[in-house]
Amino acid sequence: MQDLAGKHIVLGLTGGVACYKSAELCRLMVKAGATVQVVMTESATQFITPVTMQALSGRPVYISQWDVREPNNMPHINLSREADAIVLAPCSADFIARLVQGRSDELLSLMCLARPIDRVPLLLAPAMNREMWSHPATLRNLAQVQADGAIALGVGTGAQACGETGDGRMLEPAELMEDIVAHFQPKVLAGQHVLVTAGPTFEAMDPIRGITNHSSGKMGFAIARAAREAGARVTLVAGPVHLATPRGVKRIDVQSAQQMLAAAQSAAQDANVFVATAAVADWRPATHSNQKIKKDGSGRAPSLAFTENPDILLTLAQGERARRGQLYCVGFAAESENLVEHAKAKRERKGIPLLVGNIGPLTFGQDHNSLLLVDDAGVRELPRAPKQVLARELVAEIAARLPVWKPA
Ligand code: CTP
Repeated sequence: MQDLAGKHIVLGLTGGVACYKSAELCRLMVKAGATVQVVMTESATQFITPVTMQALSGRPVYISQWDVREPNNMPHINLSREADAIVLAPCSADFIARLVQGRSDELLSLMCLARPIDRVPLLLAPAMNREMWSHPATLRNLAQVQADGAIALGVGTGAQACGETGDGRMLEPAELMEDIVAHFQPKVLAGQHVLVTAGPTFEAMDPIRGITNHSSGKMGFAIARAAREAGARVTLVAGPVHLATPRGVKRIDVQSAQQMLAAAQSAAQDANVFVATAAVADWRPATHSNQKIKKDGSGRAPSLAFTENPDILLTLAQGERARRGQLYCVGFAAESENLVEHAKAKRERKGIPLLVGNIGPLTFGQDHNSLLLVDDAGVRELPRAPKQVLARELVAEIAARLPVWKPA
């Protein structure tokens, strides 16, 4: 997915063992369609060679402000004027202190100081030992550098190169990529709380078995990520799926439809948007055995009785917040045929302003999908594309409808 297509990123490396992760970050950014210009401090070259970074970025690396390759001998001006963003990864404690003081005695800090502050965002990925990270001087400097307009991307927790364990190591390249891509998305849902249900539910019949379905959760996770990228606070209630939680999203794992309903009702108390993508099992076994149901040797299968599950979308759409116009509900319809008619009928039945139809077998487990948006105004197709692209389009569609929506 070309999430950074057309973007020119200046990737600044400062001295720290996390430089080894910057090689992968550079690769990911190039794969995502960005052009990447690497600038390194002298200290960074102790940890990774400019040769590696040149090979991965496809451009010679800049290290010195006296670089004769620039006709005007002003790399600090030329490099920063071209950039859509400057990303410092890793950003050492010393370099944060240098930014705070506006130091400019080597190329990278000089370039950061010389950047057009309103037009070129400065994102920094701190990396340091846990004691350094929690030192009052670092906390003070980090607060100041953010007050001066830089965006700090947070740190990871866990084992550190020094052998200690705690906060302060650099985020993983994939995490940094999520944050960098998010930075460029329009903040159309800023200030909103978005609730998403995703994945299948699992309805147990005994401790070993149960009924479920093929939903992978990918579309719901993509919507949660897109809503977060758009500036919303996001709660994701997920059935049993094997997917990484999108950055910055609060995830609540559940198994059954009843658990999903309870978690969704609780989160919906102050949510403004509810997107129901979960493939909730319509029925659950009427009885649950505490022990494994055994074959009795008769050759006959046990007969199973089912109870209907609560309809989570219907329950929330009929709830007080939705009726008062405080909760905008979006449903999904997974159909196998006659998508338009089924989607229209389902929207009426659930009493919701927007329903998104898709063909189940063409979406379950896949990375691509196409969507049919059904609302009061009619039907609109979002053509087949990666789920993350569709999720961003859907989030924009929802955001556009929020100010004008009035409950029926
Ligand atoms: N849904 C829900 N709780 C249920 C069943 C469905 O919240 N118990 C939501 C889904 O998340 C989706 C929408 O309702 O947003 C439609 O789900 P779908 O399974 O397509 O439809 P059903 O309501 O189950 O209707 P049918 O079985 O007739 O297709």
